[in-house]
Amino acid sequence: MKIAITGISAYLPKKVITNDDLAKTLDTSHEWIYTRTGIEKRHVVSEKELASDLGIKAAKGIIEQTNLNPKEIDGIIVSTTTADRRFPSCACKIQGEIGAKNAFALDINAACAGFIYGLAVSDSMMKGLNLNTVLLIGAETLSKFVDWTDRSTCVLFGDGAGAFLLQASTRRNSIIAAKLYSDGKKEKYNHILAHNGPQNDNRGYTTMEGRPVFKQAIDCMASSMNEILKENRMKIDDVDWIVPHQANRRILESLCKIRNFPLEKVIITTQEHANTSSASIPLAIKDGIDTGKIKKGDVILLTALGAGLVWGSAIIRI
Ligand code: UT7
Repeated sequence: MKIAITGISAYLPKKVITNDDLAKTLDTSHEWIYTRTGIEKRHVVSEKELASDLGIKAAKGIIEQTNLNPKEIDGIIVSTTTADRRFPSCACKIQGEIGAKNAFALDINAACAGFIYGLAVSDSMMKGLNLNTVLLIGAETLSKFVDWTDRSTCVLFGDGAGAFLLQASTRRNSIIAAKLYSDGKKEKYNHILAHNGPQNDNRGYTTMEGRPVFKQAIDCMASSMNEILKENRMKIDDVDWIVPHQANRRILESLCKIRNFPLEKVIITTQEHANTSSASIPLAIKDGIDTGKIKKGDVILLTALGAGLVWGSAIIRI
């Protein structure tokens, strides 16, 4: 079975927080944040907005763009590490809101590598269950799970959602390959810790040992990109664009310098979006399309690493 990406959408919440805004209440500066991360600003949700609300906006964007009848959707898969509630799933909420009466609904959590995991799960389910149409959404509200008094984490994250419409096709094959990895022994570097936090609300706040995660991100993303290219008998020259998870511009620059990947092929949106976890890859692809860089038919190498640790790469054709 061939699977084509027939729609791509993105949604960012309206509220924007700049580095200068953060410097008003934290012992930080635009200069520190920009030089260490490449981030200039981030979009964040309002108190009442939830991950599912962002996912609904991204889903509706695709429905409008493609004139899709929601009843044709066979499944909704949402990658999120910041679901509205422990249960029911974000996918189920979105299914109800968009009237996808014939769809199953499933959330998956692979932190910042979630969209690549979601692609692999969607590809396998469509082939295994002979499905025609799946909506894959990455939707995240990490701003709700950071301690806004902790300058070492809160400056890094933003909120957003992005979606792919995946449809069985006789002609076009968009998901060329995917490869997934994990190492639970490195969980201590980056996780959401269940402590009460400054608001004493017991929701859990993100903690991260930045330096080891920085190093792991380069090593794991580089080796998984090299492995997936080798297994598919491809070279980096066969790839038009590299779209990595957007945690830190310096990670991407170091990855290219140390591991010999072409920086001019890397789509970077860190400055605009900050780290939006599993939404960062579809948001960056949509940005690449909207700015005229990514064109129909282009081959894109995706790569990401997130808390777990979990990581992976995929090769897609737009
Ligand atoms: O998406 C999941 C995967 N996550 C990642 O890939 C993130 C990987 N890590 C990183 O991106 C970087 O390690 C960070 C951006 C998190 C941190 O950058 P760094 O260059 O590794 O800085 P550091 O943590 O070693 O901190 C250097 C200094 C420290 O001060 P001292 O101890 O040298 O006096 C920090 O206290 O910078 C200080 N610092 C800050 N200063 C101003 C930490 N955060 C801030 C801040 N403003 N916001």
